Amino acid sequence: MLLAPMLPFSLSLLVVWLPVLWPVFGYELVRDYSGLSFFNGWDFYGAYDNLTLGDVMWLNVDDAFGQGLAYVNRAGNAVLKVDNMHNVAFNQKRNSLRITTQAAYAVGSLWITDMVHIPFGCSVWPAFWTKGPKWPDNGEIEYVLQFCLQAYLLNRDSIMEAINLMDYNQMALHTLPGCMHTTPPNQMGVSKELDCSMPSGCVVAETAPNSYQAGFAAAGGGVFAAQFDVSGIFIWFWSRPNIPLSILQATSASPIDISEWGPPSASFPSTTCNITQFFSPQNLVFDITLCGIWAGLPVEYLPACGNSGPTGICYNDNVVGPGDRYNDAYFEIKYVRAYTTGGIAPTPTAAAVAIATPLKTTTTTSMKRPAGTALVSSPLFYPGSARMNTEMGGVIVLLCLLVGTVTSSIL
Ligand SMILES: *[C@@H]1O[C@H](CO)[C@@H](O)[C@H](O)[C@H]1NC(C)=O
Ligand SMILES: *[C@@H]1O[C@H](CO)[C@@H](O)[C@H](O)[C@H]1NC(C)=O
Repeated sequence: MLLAPMLPFSLSLLVVWLPVLWPVFGYELVRDYSGLSFFNGWDFYGAYDNLTLGDVMWLNVDDAFGQGLAYVNRAGNAVLKVDNMHNVAFNQKRNSLRITTQAAYAVGSLWITDMVHIPFGCSVWPAFWTKGPKWPDNGEIEYVLQFCLQAYLLNRDSIMEAINLMDYNQMALHTLPGCMHTTPPNQMGVSKELDCSMPSGCVVAETAPNSYQAGFAAAGGGVFAAQFDVSGIFIWFWSRPNIPLSILQATSASPIDISEWGPPSASFPSTTCNITQFFSPQNLVFDITLCGIWAGLPVEYLPACGNSGPTGICYNDNVVGPGDRYNDAYFEIKYVRAYTTGGIAPTPTAAAVAIATPLKTTTTTSMKRPAGTALVSSPLFYPGSARMNTEMGGVIVLLCLLVGTVTSSIL
């Protein structure tokens, strides 16, 4: 009885408020890596894998293109692959790639990548991830020492990482002690390790289907997105059929509105991990290694792939010999886009979506609005607008509560 008179009032408020508030969900594009210019702005590693101890040589830029491991295909997609054309003799390494953006992206950034194919197969360990400038190029142990000396943290965020015959993606943060993962109520993935200083990092396993392996490719690939915000680090994955309209409609130049993305696969709220303390500006990295200190560990390798060759040893049964085991060991990437809350043309409304705050429990998800999106300001790009951000944040929280009220009234 009471609902009838209330609804028109609430709905009319929404009509008035939405156009005003919409831009605060928006991110401005700062860099598009795609098509023939995809490879501009990346450094090629050009050395053995002395970081994850895989049995690969990560080629330099000339060899990468010369040997056909990096190229743009007819579809206009960038391909990064493991050598599948040459015989590798015992005690030799196989050629592969590791590329890192020259640009580093600060807290307040959003990264989106659309991929058609991700490397998979026994011994294969691909990753799309981000890292602070000092890690892991100096080695993990050195890095820890450096951290202690420098008293600030430079860390990494793994958006896509899997090994061997896993059929799902894992997401993780790697930090020194003091950053913990707490599982927020509307995280879609399953939390595993909670302490981000453990060797695995704090890990969340994807539960949506087709996030990795043959299933990912068969579905036409999908999109990964990561929001790197003062309020936390939030990672989404959508298989091709489920990509949100905002992403389908985004161009290589347009801003993007993330307000309808719904709950992320992995949600690392800043309540238990101070993002600005533990993370410096991040470079984006694609790499493919073989075996090494995850895929090649007997405890990981044997159950999945131990029977795939005569010796049960990752290197012997895969890396050595002809390359046809690696026909699926390639990334095919439509684009990588980096966005910022500030953007090239600064906007004063630099608020970002924080998926995990106590407010979420009051704005529970509904069929109509899968949000749970309470908002926190993200002032890092334009510190001068911090006051405005705070005010806008307050208004948005109010809006979310209103929406929650309206939807729960209707339902
Ligand atoms: C890895 O190799 C590169 C190139 O030789 C070198 O600059 C870097 O210091 C090495 N890192 C480690 C951890 O050994
Ligand atoms: C988070 O870390 C930053 C940088 O170290 C610091 O300025 C800030 O006060 C910290 N925030 C909290 C809530 O501890």
